[in-house]
Amino acid sequence: MPYTVTKLTDYSEAALDSAVRGLFSALDSEATTVSSDTDWKAFRDRWMARKNGVLTQVNDLWLKPAPKDAKREVGQRVNEIKKRVEETVDQTAERSKSDSSVLDSERLDISLPGIHRPIGAEHPVIKTMNEIVSVFRNLGYSVSEGPEIETDYYNFESLNFPPNHPARDTQDTLFIANQESKPLRERLLLRTHTSPVQIRTMEKLKPPIRIVIPGKVYRNDPPDASHSPMFHQIEGLAVDYNIKFGDLKGTLDHFIKALLGSSVKTRFKPSFFPFTEPSAEMMVSCFICGGSGWRGNDPCRPCKQSGWIEILGCGMVDPNVFEFVKDNGYDPKKVSGFAFGMGADRLAILKYGVDDIQLFFQGDVRFLEQFS
Ligand code: PHE
Repeated sequence: MPYTVTKLTDYSEAALDSAVRGLFSALDSEATTVSSDTDWKAFRDRWMARKNGVLTQVNDLWLKPAPKDAKREVGQRVNEIKKRVEETVDQTAERSKSDSSVLDSERLDISLPGIHRPIGAEHPVIKTMNEIVSVFRNLGYSVSEGPEIETDYYNFESLNFPPNHPARDTQDTLFIANQESKPLRERLLLRTHTSPVQIRTMEKLKPPIRIVIPGKVYRNDPPDASHSPMFHQIEGLAVDYNIKFGDLKGTLDHFIKALLGSSVKTRFKPSFFPFTEPSAEMMVSCFICGGSGWRGNDPCRPCKQSGWIEILGCGMVDPNVFEFVKDNGYDPKKVSGFAFGMGADRLAILKYGVDDIQLFFQGDVRFLEQFS
């Protein structure tokens, strides 16, 4: 039978003692049955609820009807009861929290392995670009950058590709739509090479300059094993008052040896770019087959058995290019310079022996983690 408060008929000290004792023993025994948060709330309400809690009943049934001369005595007992009930409810709250059912639900298995957060690594193309840039930094070059959405002026015109000149056809260009209302030189396109940053830099800095320009470039090439509509280039430009073709050869020969090892040989083959004159293609002895054209009994694929690999385009800055930045100190009669540009993805492919450029851009971690 749960404890209930009954009216007192006898207000003698002994009767009060016994009533209080009965109440306390009920309080203590009910407290021991509390084993969860829900139990505890029910317990608290049963004893302390304003409406019909045990304390309220004690007030109503013991104190209120007490005869005048017993009021003081009963009042003291009721205070005692109130204090004791409050203490017990508080203590029970502590206990119900540390109860085993709560422990079970909040159990922490410290023997489980922790959360493994793999550390990221440089993408092989970025890594290659950083290596290239660092060789030139050691030669005293600074790094420059430019926008990937470029105007016709910077991408073509100021690089000596006149409007409608067939040289523009050598770079399949991705044009931005709805530009027809603008004058040709302001029309936007995705830059097809990093060379526009040559002009942008010469507009800002007076000669002498030595810069390298890493960045993304875009061409209207459908993706296949060796083409991607987006790829990476590193451009270089050195302009001073007495730069000769020998400086270009020496610099690029040093660069490629620093990147691929001192045993590679270089060769320059005549070529054409509108913004350099003369222009050349730098070839490097195939660092895959050592220049023999063979890997064991198999023909060497990367150099197509020729023993040489085309690595970059270069040349002496065409005086027509300087004309566009003449006002900033680039008088073609006084300054000369060389420029070069190479595909970082292509170098990474050769360096790591990857057979499909697409692998670089598909984001498959199983491929990429091999380079970490
Ligand atoms: N911009 C040329 C290209 O993308 C490469 C190049 C750069 C050639 C600088 C000469 C000098 O093909």
